[in-house]
Amino acid sequence: MDNFTFYAPTYFAFGKDAEQQTGALVKRFGGTKVLIHYGGGSVVRSGLLARVEASLDAEGIAYVELGGVKPNPRSGLVYQGIDLCRQQNIDFVLAVGGGSAIDSAKAIAAGAVYDGDFWDFYEGKLVDKALPIGTVLTIAAAGSEGSPDSVITKEEGMIKRGATGEAYRPRFSILNPALTQTLPPYQTACGITDIIAHLYERYLTNTKDVEVTDRMIEALILTMIHEGPRVIENPDNYEARANIMWAGMMAHNNSCGVGRTQDWTSHNVEHELSALYDCAHGAGLAVTMPAVFTYTMPHDVLRFAKIAVRVWGCQMDFEHPERTAREGIEALRRFLISIGMPANFADLGAREEDIEKLAHTCCYGSEYSDGKLYGFTTLEQKDVEAIYRLMI
Ligand code: NZQ
Ligand code: ZN
Repeated sequence: MDNFTFYAPTYFAFGKDAEQQTGALVKRFGGTKVLIHYGGGSVVRSGLLARVEASLDAEGIAYVELGGVKPNPRSGLVYQGIDLCRQQNIDFVLAVGGGSAIDSAKAIAAGAVYDGDFWDFYEGKLVDKALPIGTVLTIAAAGSEGSPDSVITKEEGMIKRGATGEAYRPRFSILNPALTQTLPPYQTACGITDIIAHLYERYLTNTKDVEVTDRMIEALILTMIHEGPRVIENPDNYEARANIMWAGMMAHNNSCGVGRTQDWTSHNVEHELSALYDCAHGAGLAVTMPAVFTYTMPHDVLRFAKIAVRVWGCQMDFEHPERTAREGIEALRRFLISIGMPANFADLGAREEDIEKLAHTCCYGSEYSDGKLYGFTTLEQKDVEAIYRLMI
């Protein structure tokens, strides 16, 4: 196991009606004037926004609203939010919604206290300072409620990039599984897929002897395999929603990723798809993961065979371990399709003629990229093109 530090101080309030604690938690973490940031309106329709505001009112906390975050959040609204924070002397940013609202809120929180362009953080500058952030989560998926990360799409060129830094860890996150019961089945399935992807990205490691985190990851994927179909069949299953919601947090706050190298190839390859075609991130990952894994499997056949046996229940073929490895990838693909996820490029609205461009942006799309993707394996543009071709 590699040396590591791990500091994840987010305060979680989990369970039914937990959003009623919003005002008290903002106060506890020092907020006096809040920017409430949310998406396209699901939180207005469900009445959640009104409940959150009532909770702030009860504590005498002032707030202004900024809605309109789109899935795959854009830079334009971030600039608006930064201006608003400065004009209104905001000292706390509260996201009410999913990963998109949370990531946009994080970008605003960093940009509001930074003299330069907030996009610098999405070009590799570490986020070391931001306004305090809180979240009221409405979808189990991105894990941004416990992560030090944010992903934003720059409208100019539609480039989707991530930023990271401890200042991006929310001070508190409110997780009420009942809030996810209004999700359409497709979005629920996208979330499940993203959670599984966050686990695979960490499982695919070049570090030896990391049994504790291997086992944690396996347990969380097994939980998704168990709970996923139950919640797709019955969206009101609170207990299944609760297990998925907490798994989503644990999958991405990096408790399963410490002390080991990680992959992130599937995410890098997928981000070009959701940036260009505006598909849901989870849907993009459902198509991307089997292709990436098929391409990179020869790098460490036994690692893929291990997850195939331990998670997907495959029989180990000792003579031909690559058959077992392939069976595991196929089992993942079948599972994702069974919960309603797309199977190929066309299902995502992606086009074969864009492959060269996609692979080029993936490898060279930002100032600091050197043409390679570093992860479980090191890939060049030609490899990324081959991966996209496997998705057709
Ligand atoms: O915008 P509203 O109206 O709220 O509707 C949303 C949106 O259309 C809807 N929704 C959310 N909760 C709902 C609901 N509809 C009904 N009932 C509810 N309870 O679902 C749609 C998707 O929401 P979004 O926030 O985009 O989903 P998600 O949480 O999957 O976030 C996706 C974004 O997170 C990024 C992705 O790249 C993508 O941009 N990621 C962020 C990460 C991070 N910060 O650590 C890591 C991830 O790997 C990921 O890349
Ligand atoms: Zn993800």
